[in-house]
Amino acid sequence: MQVEIPWVEKYRPKSLSEIVGQSSIIERLNSYARSRNVPNQLYSGPAGVGKTSSAIVLAKALFGEQGFKQNFLELNASDERGIDVVRNTIKDFARTLAFNADFKIIFLDEADALTADAQQALRRTMECYTKTARFILSCNYSSRIIEPIQSRCVIFRFSPLTDAEIKKKLSEIAKHEKLDVEDSAYDAIVYASEGDLRKAINILQGSAFLGKKITDKIVYSVSSRARPVEIRELIKLAFSKKFIEAREMLTKLMYDYGMSGEDIIIQVYRELIEMDEKAIPTRVKIDLVNVIAEYNYRIVEGANERIQLEAMLAQFMKYS
Ligand SMILES: Nc1ncnc2c1ncn2[C@@H]1O[C@H](COP(=O)(O)OP(=O)(O)O)[C@@H](O)[C@H]1O
Ligand SMILES: [Mg+2]
Repeated sequence: MQVEIPWVEKYRPKSLSEIVGQSSIIERLNSYARSRNVPNQLYSGPAGVGKTSSAIVLAKALFGEQGFKQNFLELNASDERGIDVVRNTIKDFARTLAFNADFKIIFLDEADALTADAQQALRRTMECYTKTARFILSCNYSSRIIEPIQSRCVIFRFSPLTDAEIKKKLSEIAKHEKLDVEDSAYDAIVYASEGDLRKAINILQGSAFLGKKITDKIVYSVSSRARPVEIRELIKLAFSKKFIEAREMLTKLMYDYGMSGEDIIIQVYRELIEMDEKAIPTRVKIDLVNVIAEYNYRIVEGANERIQLEAMLAQFMKYS
């Protein structure tokens, strides 16, 4: 069988116009491209929302395909070989003249993984090459970037993508791949991906691996997520003191969907918050959130998942 390239690469945007959402950011980047000049930039936001893609298509718009190959350098700041390797690579790259342009672009991913000292060193490197290079830094939290770097950059805040934006992109891919995706399956992917388009596309590809027809059942099993109704059922069972039934439900979730203890606890939290006042009153939710926090901590610390989840359900019963 032919090995398929990951769809996140296959369907990576090729131009600024193909970026979904982030409209005010894309407008600014378009104007940079038109003026053929860009400032240093800091892209902050969650994973899978188009930060890397935006840097790439901006550079392509400025340099063209040929110039892009020579004038664009992508580095990961969390490179385990250390900041020195990163700085030397930047030096080698920035030293030579740009092809058919006034500057080169250095894209540094996960800049917030750098320690404050390493960021100071990066700041000095940025200053050394102001004439010949522009930096685009990408991070999850801009607050983890030192002030002197922030003040040298225009900051762009990327948002999680909306349900509609994710659906739109997925349906384009589905059409191209000749998939038959049920509406409920789209909803399931949107639910499981939480605004992260990379995750959404990966779930779609994982589901398509099992066949062209994609149902919500397939999506939930591929993404190790339970149906929201099943999680709510689990909460209701525990809350109404039906321990045996709650325990059976738990077994089903862990075996049918291959969910880990942490997967389940996070989804229990998400559904509890969304459940309506009649099912569980707000004042009780507050107590239950505290219970969830305690057991989440225990699981993360390495206690037996199964026992902790059952103990959590037992705690829920106290509040019914
Ligand atoms: N806003 C977006 N528009 C179009 N595709 C996107 C967008 N965000 C993510 N993607 C898809 O997800 C993949 C990962 O996106 P990427 O730009 O690397 O995200 P980030 O750098 O924010 O983690 C891309 O290859 C693309 O297929
Ligand atoms: Mg990225």
